Amino acid sequence: MEGPAPSGSVRFFDAQFQRQLRSGDFALNPFERAALPYLRGQLLDAGCGLGNLAVAAAAGGCSVLALDGSPAAIAHLNTLAAECGLPIRAEEADLREVEPPPAAFDAVAAIGLVMFFDCPTARRQLARLQAAVRPGGVAAINVLVEGTTFLDFFGSDPYCLFGRDELARAFEGWQVLEQRTDDFDAPDGRLKRFSTVIARRPPAGHR
Ligand SMILES: C[S@@+](CC[C@H](N)C(=O)[O-])C[C@H]1O[C@@H](n2cnc3c(N)ncnc32)[C@H](O)[C@@H]1O
Repeated sequence: MEGPAPSGSVRFFDAQFQRQLRSGDFALNPFERAALPYLRGQLLDAGCGLGNLAVAAAAGGCSVLALDGSPAAIAHLNTLAAECGLPIRAEEADLREVEPPPAAFDAVAAIGLVMFFDCPTARRQLARLQAAVRPGGVAAINVLVEGTTFLDFFGSDPYCLFGRDELARAFEGWQVLEQRTDDFDAPDGRLKRFSTVIARRPPAGHR
């Protein structure tokens, strides 16, 4: 049975990734650079895009499951992983629906993903991604938040801008390793405001 149609954001990024593949643009973005030093063991990279973080993490010793809706990105990442002998399995997935197995990963990254879902879906999928982290493991999550006035990524699709402190509140009880808000200028005087939290799930038996 066919799944739901790819979202507008997946079509947008698939076209962008095809341009980046032609121009050879594989730089880590600042949020991926912040997350990388915390990633160990089995990593789930949800919304991996071209897989720059997955590749860097695998080169540093992680074993990676990389998921994204973009066929161009997943094909590129599987080819690169095979050519370089990197322990990365990349799969196409609709991340509005995916429920990763609970406590199955040492690290879960979702950089710039859940804002592309309607708010109930975004909150549910954030909770599922958090639940996929083993006790003592790390989550690295980045989202656009309220205050963002550049909305061109979303087209007519539903989207979700979390409240400015919402992501941090979702990690109550975790050990927060990094938390930041970053503003970036966008065309026509508009703004992209990102919230990033990198946090460690309390170890088993922790009270
Ligand atoms: C802003 S990009 C971030 C990519 C990468 N994490 C990075 O930091 O460069 C958002 C990614 O989410 C993916 N995406 C958006 N909606 C999705 C969905 N419903 N299912 C799967 N992937 C989705 C896009 O294809 C794209 O790769």
